[in-house]
Amino acid sequence: MAKTQVVTGIDIGTSIIKIITARKDVETGKIIDILFFRTIDSSGVQKGRIKNTQETGKKIAELFSDMQKEKIPKTSEFFVSINGNKLELINTKGLINVSQAGGKISQEDIERIYQGAKAVNLQSTNKEILSTFPKEWILDGEREIKDPLGLRGTRLELEAFLLSVLSSDTESVMEAINQGGIDSEITIVPAILADTRSVLDSSKKELGVALISIGAGTSSVAVFEEGNLLNLAVFPIGSTNITNDIAIGFKTEIEIAEKIKKEYGTCSKMGTKKIEMDISPFSEEKIQIETSNKKAKNKNVIVFSEKELNKIIEARVCEIFDLIDKEIKKVSKQGLLPGGIVLVGGGAKLPGIVELAKKEFNLPCRIGYPKNVPGMEKDCSFSTVCGLIMDDTEESTEGEVSSKEGIGKKIMKVFKDFIP
Ligand SMILES: Nc1ncnc2c1ncn2[C@@H]1O[C@H](COP(=O)(O)OP(=O)(O)OP(=O)(O)O)[C@@H](O)[C@H]1O
Ligand SMILES: [Mg+2]
Repeated sequence: MAKTQVVTGIDIGTSIIKIITARKDVETGKIIDILFFRTIDSSGVQKGRIKNTQETGKKIAELFSDMQKEKIPKTSEFFVSINGNKLELINTKGLINVSQAGGKISQEDIERIYQGAKAVNLQSTNKEILSTFPKEWILDGEREIKDPLGLRGTRLELEAFLLSVLSSDTESVMEAINQGGIDSEITIVPAILADTRSVLDSSKKELGVALISIGAGTSSVAVFEEGNLLNLAVFPIGSTNITNDIAIGFKTEIEIAEKIKKEYGTCSKMGTKKIEMDISPFSEEKIQIETSNKKAKNKNVIVFSEKELNKIIEARVCEIFDLIDKEIKKVSKQGLLPGGIVLVGGGAKLPGIVELAKKEFNLPCRIGYPKNVPGMEKDCSFSTVCGLIMDDTEESTEGEVSSKEGIGKKIMKVFKDFIP
């Protein structure tokens, strides 16, 4: 019988915390079945970053206690998301003389060059490194080497990215988890990389693809080509901004604006140009909603047309797409990603967003649903939590354990490098 392991992923979102516990085949890394899944409204998180560890911890404790009540088998490893605009890529370089000059490049050489590339001084910045992504290997001046292991040469160079984050952000995650009563080893995974694991396959990453996540408080993008990460960015703007815009535009409460967004909200079905030409496909017919205001003991009526609502929503989605487009431009891949655009996150549930993205990015576009986690394939806002418990099949990992004193005795932080 296959040896199995119980793993748990906790995605600490700005609006919703999601938890999943699953049984996994140790050999193949395949998820066999889900043992527990739950979501809860989040608290203490702003724009993807934990600002009140007590509040967030309480929510995690609720989820954890539900899990214990259901007598779920003990988790052997916890994976927790980290997010926010303090996740940043830093360019770095490594250089070594191959241990046997002119000989074959060994695993030890590879490890040595990675250590060198990671040896950047971040002390004064309060930042730490979460992952390393190779960009290009150069052997004796020759570029475009995919995998140098086993090749012969003398001087090996590596150009790479380091994914860094503020140390205080990882500490907040650890504290919230600890407050939540979880007292075991955890692995912190950047949310957008978890998304990547659950929705992108290697062929798309090889071709060239941009994964875009629109959450409640953040929007992120990760661009890949030839299997390598080309760019990654997180912005402190998300679907909550759309709700706020509706609340301001229609002079109503946030809760009602959120309801209007989910029930009536759409992006352009035909793209922005049609609207500029004033042949919008949206109805100008008035929608009337009655809202009862408990305090005032009276009923308010909001009247709006689909066209007015669309205008508000589309302006904000276009702003998000513009920020992301600039990141795609930075790596000169505008309109040049054959794998297209893949959209995830709750914000991607807006009808018409795929059509709008196609127009804005001039690329094929689809919604990304989590794969390989049985029963979770239908919701694009579960991509992060599903990705947390999935192995990255294309990237072998090199573990590096560093304990964090003063946060939780048994809690350890395992940072993993992404080395193809
Ligand atoms: N049907 C829908 N139409 C439009 N927006 C929706 C819909 N369903 C959910 N949303 C929005 O999706 C957001 C929640 O998505 P998600 O769970 O991915 O965010 P999060 O993980 O909490 O936030 P973040 O990743 O930014 O920290 C909310 O802002 C919600 O309004
Ligand atoms: Mg999220």
